[in-house]
Amino acid sequence: MKLLVIGSTGQVARALAAKAGDHEVVRAGRPQIDLAHPTGLADLIGQVSPDAIINAAAYTAVDRAEDDIKAARALNETGPAALARAAAARRLPFLHISTDYVFNGMGGAPYAEDAETAPLNVYGQTKAGGEEAVLAAHPAALVVRTSWVYAPEGQNFVSTMLRLAAEKDALNVVSDQIGRPTEAHALAEALIDLAAQLRAGAEGGLLNVANTGEASWRDLADAAIRGAGLSTPVTGIPTSAWPTRARRPGDTRLDLTRAREVYGIELPVWRDSLERCLEMMGLGGRRAS
Ligand SMILES: NC(=O)c1ccc[n+]([C@@H]2O[C@H](COP(=O)([O-])OP(=O)(O)OC[C@H]3O[C@@H](n4cnc5c(N)ncnc54)[C@H](OP(=O)(O)O)[C@@H]3O)[C@@H](O)[C@H]2O)c1
Repeated sequence: MKLLVIGSTGQVARALAAKAGDHEVVRAGRPQIDLAHPTGLADLIGQVSPDAIINAAAYTAVDRAEDDIKAARALNETGPAALARAAAARRLPFLHISTDYVFNGMGGAPYAEDAETAPLNVYGQTKAGGEEAVLAAHPAALVVRTSWVYAPEGQNFVSTMLRLAAEKDALNVVSDQIGRPTEAHALAEALIDLAAQLRAGAEGGLLNVANTGEASWRDLADAAIRGAGLSTPVTGIPTSAWPTRARRPGDTRLDLTRAREVYGIELPVWRDSLERCLEMMGLGGRRAS
């Protein structure tokens, strides 16, 4: 299978390339494709001639999006819609990635795919708009919602916590937001599997895909720091003690039943994927007890 991945240097785009295995992954990032000005999509698709397309590009800076609404909407909503139209015109399977931040986190239970969206911030609003626009343009597309993504490379929550743990005597990390931390390589394997299933005729729609288990940001920071062999203490603090430009949802655990039952997709428990991520980072990957 030949996959065209939109996005080149992002966490998920890189992980898709790393996990290609016997498949061929062609990444198209900027300047070749600028989703804010999506011209030349048909030419790109014609040149690459893929079996499926995965959109791994997005405006992901949650706080910055609050003051950059136009760009966030272009990248998360209108750009993906143009991609979906281009894929639909060639009857190509299309996977688009969305987020747990389409929810307000007040439901008190894991969110199934058909739960009502109610984003608290611009990032979530534009991603929710993107879900709708993609499915309207390409009803057979698969919109994969995931959560709390980190990877062995690049800057992300895990790498930031490891850096801070090495610099500071103690850390305070928010403990009243919970979700399902998801390692990019584990997610990429599932996305490639799903692309093959779509190609073979599997149904599209919304689908939650994340590592299993649940954690607070404090839990994730603590497990990463312990796993890397550091002893820096990590104290839990409430969201109210860590003000951010964008509001964050409290409990965005995704219900993973449909992925397991309909597509046979079940990612490892988050602590196992974190351990493997730390190994890839050359940090030993010792499991926190
Ligand atoms: N990170 C998370 O915690 C998280 C959680 C839930 C869902 N998601 C979703 O998962 C997907 C992948 O996220 P990620 O963590 O891999 O993001 P990321 O590391 O921030 O990468 C963003 C990607 O978007 C691309 N991009 C940015 N502006 C662009 C533009 N104008 N035109 C074309 N491409 C552009 C970048 O392109 P270049 O390669 O050209 O730099 C990069 O590949 C996104 O849909 C995101 O919303 C992420």
